[in-house]
Amino acid sequence: MKTVKDYIRTIVDFPHEGIMFRDVTTLFADPRGFRMTIDQMLHPYAGQRIDKVVGLEARGFIIGGAIAHQLTLGFVPIRKKGKLPGAVLSEAYQLEYGEAVMEIHDDAIQPGERVLVVDDLLATGGTAAAGIKLIERLGGEIVGCAFIVDLPELGGRALLEDMGIDVHVLCE
Ligand code: PRP
Ligand code: ADE
Repeated sequence: MKTVKDYIRTIVDFPHEGIMFRDVTTLFADPRGFRMTIDQMLHPYAGQRIDKVVGLEARGFIIGGAIAHQLTLGFVPIRKKGKLPGAVLSEAYQLEYGEAVMEIHDDAIQPGERVLVVDDLLATGGTAAAGIKLIERLGGEIVGCAFIVDLPELGGRALLEDMGIDVHVLCE
């Protein structure tokens, strides 16, 4: 039986030389693969109170939308700078290959809401850490962060765990 990992392909030297890009579009394109991904990402949170699902741009939107629908919850996007139309909070962060700023609408999370954060991949953890800071600045509590892929050599999991975050990944 194929596992989630079996559906993910690697593109060498994208978007820059030396990067092995783990491409989840092949996983999302397969109906069994996509269903398995959503089911496995949700598994550890069964029975826990979750109020909102947050997805990190861009592939976190695909996962987060499906998870929010499955749980009958609202979905909130955290986006790259300049994409959200309303008033925002911003956090700068470092990427494996560059620098960026993440933003959230300043009314997207209410104080005390319990939030599940999702994305396709955890590398340095910079993107997720910026997202967590934005949610916490709005008074949200992080239930956990779920990813399809962890690249353990880049230290993202340790960074998030040092912030007191529960991290769930499907494969390395
Ligand atoms: C990728 C990935 C994560 C992030 C992980 O997104 O989808 O969001 O990098 O890297 P980090 O743990 O080192 O922060 P990318 O920044 O390529 O943006 P995109 O989804 O908009 O293409
Ligand atoms: N984001 C950061 N590093 C990545 C990688 N190696 N593959 C896919 N997305 C990434």
